Amino acid sequence: MRINKINLRNFRNYQNLTLQFAPGINVLSGPNGAGKTNIVEAIFYLAFASSFRTNEDVDLINNNQPLAYLEGVFSNGKYPQKVQIELQAAGKKIAVNNHGIRRLSELNDVANVLVFTPKDVLFFDDAPRIRRRYLDTNIAKNANYYLRTLLTAEKALKERNRLLKHANPDRTHLEITTEKLIQASEIIVNYRAEYVTHLQKTFNAVLAKITDGLQEVKLRYLPFVNLGDNWQERAKTAYQRTLSYDLEHHGTSIGYQREDIVAEINDQPITATASQGQKRLIAIAIKLAPYFLITEEEKKPIVILDDGLSELDEKHRRKVLEFLTPLNQTFITVTQFNEPCATHYVINNNQSVTRKETI
Ligand SMILES: Nc1ncnc2c1ncn2[C@@H]1O[C@H](COP(=O)(O)OP(=O)(O)OP(=O)(O)O)[C@@H](O)[C@H]1O
Ligand SMILES: [Mg+2]
Repeated sequence: MRINKINLRNFRNYQNLTLQFAPGINVLSGPNGAGKTNIVEAIFYLAFASSFRTNEDVDLINNNQPLAYLEGVFSNGKYPQKVQIELQAAGKKIAVNNHGIRRLSELNDVANVLVFTPKDVLFFDDAPRIRRRYLDTNIAKNANYYLRTLLTAEKALKERNRLLKHANPDRTHLEITTEKLIQASEIIVNYRAEYVTHLQKTFNAVLAKITDGLQEVKLRYLPFVNLGDNWQERAKTAYQRTLSYDLEHHGTSIGYQREDIVAEINDQPITATASQGQKRLIAIAIKLAPYFLITEEEKKPIVILDDGLSELDEKHRRKVLEFLTPLNQTFITVTQFNEPCATHYVINNNQSVTRKETI
């Protein structure tokens, strides 16, 4: 999958910007604050209708303007597909090939992006919610059934929590809701477990390519009820065991919404042992590993490394670039770039972008 062209109007610092992109590595270089991340954020936004650095869409609209407009032309081997998003403080309108879409999942077949951002260096140090979101996003992007099940589970969980808010909730209603939650959770837990098993291999394959003999990093998925026979029954027992606690605390204390994945080297969590540079490489590997779990060549996502090369020594920088070279399309933002292996855009503080031709 690739993005061939982008047009941004009143998006962040850009009043009107049109860029054509190339296959392979696209480098966006320029001084701090020039607008490099804004461009990759726009590419990401076109694929997910959300940003990787803000939950507030209004942040994306150019100051003092009523609306922002983004347009991207994607291709996934067959024919180009156009995504258009109009953003206003009151909401957004999304169209694919000039037709308004009703569900975000309709973007799934059109555009997919994997992104590494500077804050991902702390991926394994961060809150479990960050790792769950990573799992959910990557699984859901290729399995609409998973996405639908997540929504079902979320609805049941909300309902359960709403019932638990009462001093003396209706026990039958609570039981039925917990039952619904358990049914959806079984599907979620199985998807997550299978995904992490596959991820384990590709993640370490990526890691072996971009590091210099770093030991295998073991990923461990921690389901709230261990997988195996009679899963729903065992989950039911777990919920019965925590019921009095949940009633007392007016909320659901266990479940798919509390799970986590941990990373270990020699049974030690990497959070305690890996160096800053190693954490960066591990984070790049975990964010890019899903690329190799997508079997159809045209569906393999666009890769974004926002500030991914900084703080890496020369050797690791080269290894990462070599690793990225055969991928369909990659975007790298960087303050300085001198290697002649990429299509290179130089971004200046005055919003002008020039394409530097390289051999
Ligand atoms: N809504 C907005 N309206 C106008 N300008 C904005 C808006 N949001 C952000 N900016 C401007 O965009 C610039 C930051 O852009 P961006 O984060 O892309 O920089 P960058 O080139 O990635 O810098 P760095 O190298 O520091 O990461 C800042 O100058 C900021 O003021
Ligand atoms: Mg930036």
